[in-house]
Amino acid sequence: MQKLAIQGGIPLRGEVRISGAKNAALPIMCAGLLTAETLRLSNLPDLHDVGTMRKLLQQMGVAAGYASNEITFNGGNVANWEAPYDMVKTMRAAILVLGPLVARFGEARVSLPGGCAIGSRPVDLHIKGLQAMGADIRIEHGYIHAKARRLKGARIFFDIVSVTGTENLMMAGALADGVTVLENAAREPEVVDLANCLRAMGAKISGDGTDTVTITGVEKLNGATHRIMPDRIESGTFLVAAAATGGSITLRETRADILETVLEKLTEAGAQIKVAGDTIHLEMKGRPKAVNVRTAPHPAFPTDMQAQFMALNCIAAGSAMVVETIFENRFMHVQELRRLGAQIDVEGNTSVVRGVEHLEGATVMATDLRASACLVIAGLVAQGETVIDRIYHLDRGYEHIEAKLEKLGANIRRLK
Ligand code: EPZ
Repeated sequence: MQKLAIQGGIPLRGEVRISGAKNAALPIMCAGLLTAETLRLSNLPDLHDVGTMRKLLQQMGVAAGYASNEITFNGGNVANWEAPYDMVKTMRAAILVLGPLVARFGEARVSLPGGCAIGSRPVDLHIKGLQAMGADIRIEHGYIHAKARRLKGARIFFDIVSVTGTENLMMAGALADGVTVLENAAREPEVVDLANCLRAMGAKISGDGTDTVTITGVEKLNGATHRIMPDRIESGTFLVAAAATGGSITLRETRADILETVLEKLTEAGAQIKVAGDTIHLEMKGRPKAVNVRTAPHPAFPTDMQAQFMALNCIAAGSAMVVETIFENRFMHVQELRRLGAQIDVEGNTSVVRGVEHLEGATVMATDLRASACLVIAGLVAQGETVIDRIYHLDRGYEHIEAKLEKLGANIRRLK
């Protein structure tokens, strides 16, 4: 089990290039199943989950190739319409092959994803949507077995806003017969990035980025070239790390328009933020002020930034409430933060954080991707050394994070 060792107390300074968004790359790679032609993707992040998704697609028969800084996917010889348990259990986003497989081939066998540390994470809305489009779905031996001669457009209402649910059904609708309308759809920027890629492939989609997405099915989709959007959660994570350590950093190749609530919260915490083109500059003088956070679907505050702000609040002046409304168990980082000296009370989906002057380094354990990021931030501000165990969680969603942090002056090293 690899670990990270961090000597805290050093303000982050300098520039960092933001990688492509994991949560845009994963659905967009699955869009490669929708065409027999070649999808050329640039700015794909070098992440464990992207590697897992590539291997999953390849074992289905998608031909993956490398050209300069592009990865190409060709779905011309897909013959295996199955996503096996051993791949789905490590990456629940594998559920995103379901919609494309049924839409293009009329059949799919996809393992039900297990739950994960942050919650049970059901996929009932994905299944209900495909059934509304005429798919015959049976759940047997832990697998979703879906069949459809040809999916039909339908009006689908999401009881709960679901990002990958919206993405799966958008891809299914792209090749369905007729019009599909997704009501109460997810508005995340990654949904819009997928829609942009599908339109480049010839799909007829409108309303993406709003809560009503309309897809008019076409007979076939073509190859296309698409550049993956910047990762707003990686951007937010570095900005919070700079704010927590009282530093001054500039993010390059990012976008501010997809991070507005995070930038507002950082400004409320006392950071000075300047946006210019694809760069965001953050300066934090003195101790941050505690800020209340309540997660909700985009454009509200993102749940994937909740743990990072919890770390900021641990050493901020004052107290703050952190309310998690999306997942039922996304406070796993609280126990670990307490080991560093944080003062946090948890009641249901609400945490109250009382800022302390400083944290003390200790050995802690990562439990999920964003909790790991939270512990890195806490380690960067704690006095002394913090060792974080099980950092494979971190590698799933942050490209070369210790190299990027070292470049910003952090004293951080990976222990084999
Ligand atoms: C996506 O997960 C992201 N993953 C998550 O990022 C992110 O936290 C989440 O959206 C919320 O923004 C990817 O995009 C690959 P949901 P997803 O379906 O789509 C319930 C990270 O750290 N629900 O929007 O799986 C569900 O239990 C990851 O990068 C159902 O009940 O999340 C949750 O409470 C973590 N039935 C809520 O909806 C369903 O069929 C939102 O889940 C689907 C979801």
